[in-house]
Amino acid sequence: MHPSRTPLIAGNWKMFHGGGSGVELAAAVARAAAHFPGAVECVVAPPFTALAAVAQTVAEIAEQVRQTPIGVAGQNLYPEEKGAFTGEISAPMLVEAGCHWVIVGHSERRQLFSETDAFVAKKAQVALAAQLRPIVCVGETLEERGAGATLDVVLRQVRAAMDAIASGAGAAVVAYEPVWAIGTGKVATPADAQEVHAAIRKELSARDPKLAERTRILYGGSVKADNAASLLAQPDVDGALVGGASLDVAAFATILRAAAELASRPTSA
Ligand code: PGA
Repeated sequence: MHPSRTPLIAGNWKMFHGGGSGVELAAAVARAAAHFPGAVECVVAPPFTALAAVAQTVAEIAEQVRQTPIGVAGQNLYPEEKGAFTGEISAPMLVEAGCHWVIVGHSERRQLFSETDAFVAKKAQVALAAQLRPIVCVGETLEERGAGATLDVVLRQVRAAMDAIASGAGAAVVAYEPVWAIGTGKVATPADAQEVHAAIRKELSARDPKLAERTRILYGGSVKADNAASLLAQPDVDGALVGGASLDVAAFATILRAAAELASRPTSA
């Protein structure tokens, strides 16, 4: 974590809590996030069916508790404004529902729904054009890691979305999520995560050093209350994209606190 970048902790709820329980969870998370104004930014990504209600709840809490640093994200979008795309949701629809963020290119979408690098890049571009901040997910499979191809794969995915990321001038976020670490309880070591994050930042820097300085790179994959601090302490880890532990308010609050404490650490940097 670097003092020039506010840490971002995002909860990806996946296909859980699409109704009233989502509103309850969001309210509890917003109250937890309200303890750390200015120190950490928090995002929740509920299923589409809960987005509008969650956004409203979060906005109400933000009004009661000034400076509550919490935003709402879609988990996906379709990169057309409107049209005959049955079952899909557009960027303007997410904005209308109260989102300021959207996750694109999650490995579950790349793997289960055959999303390509180019399609993910298009989504990131369309998101930014609609004033949504994309969280662009990248990451290698276990097989790719075993073959020593981690950086090749991750940097290929980053490069594919580079034009979009660069056009956001720091508004876009990159999330490094090794596929083998997602939902498995197998977390990358802080050193392994740092190595990949540093390589991503170097790639961004080759495009534009300012972009590299501003862009937050999150780690995701089995981030829990007990391993968050050591990951977030790495210089190029600017936050976390949290799946399973984001459904547990106490665990998520602990991760928020770890980020806030690291962010307010006195530093000579
Ligand atoms: P996990 O999921 O924290 O449950 O591993 C992370 C993600 O898929 O974003």
